[in-house]
Amino acid sequence: MRTIEQELESVPLVPLIQSNDPDIAIETAKALVAGGLFAIELVLRTPQALNCLSAIVQAVPEAIVGAGTVLNTRQAEAAIMAGAEFIVCPGLHKPVIDVVKVHGLPICPGVVTATEMQQAWNMGLRILKFFPADLAGGTAMIKSLAAVFGDVRFIPTGGISADNLAEYLSVPAVLACGGSWLTPKTALASGDFEVVTELAAAAVAIAAATRG
Ligand code: 3PG
Repeated sequence: MRTIEQELESVPLVPLIQSNDPDIAIETAKALVAGGLFAIELVLRTPQALNCLSAIVQAVPEAIVGAGTVLNTRQAEAAIMAGAEFIVCPGLHKPVIDVVKVHGLPICPGVVTATEMQQAWNMGLRILKFFPADLAGGTAMIKSLAAVFGDVRFIPTGGISADNLAEYLSVPAVLACGGSWLTPKTALASGDFEVVTELAAAAVAIAAATRG
């Protein structure tokens, strides 16, 4: 079985799913997989998010499903119990990182500043979410940070779309890009999962053209 890092080296995209309905979450995940995206971040921002997570884990075994917007250790434990294979946080919080490490799972905390990066680096972390990417300086900021933290790979998220995806993926320090543009709320609400597959396939094509 491939790891999340291996998957992102191959297809550098992390689509976000936000849903309060396990059936919609399953169909969205299936649509992403049909478009070529297997690494999926289910964000814990709805009352049914954990049920959505475990539903995808069970119904879409070919996906590598992680939990996002994990804010505290309780959520981290619950997400891991629900079957999350990796954990993503918007910020840097050592107790969450410690809990996830105990379970031996990948943890990707969010950073913006050199101070946060230095803290994460000293916790042994080498893959970091850069959030909110576009507002925090975009590719120029990533290049500046990468010049200092040469062994860190970034997953920029926040404000990324098909329009600027190639710009981000052309930066060598970027491991992958995350975002919700691949799962539009309107498409999910209307059950138009073909749109999700089309957006996923378009992003895969951009990634292939950028990375070769
Ligand atoms: C996140 O949860 O990482 C961000 O809210 C995603 O940002 P986006 O909606 O601009 O992709």
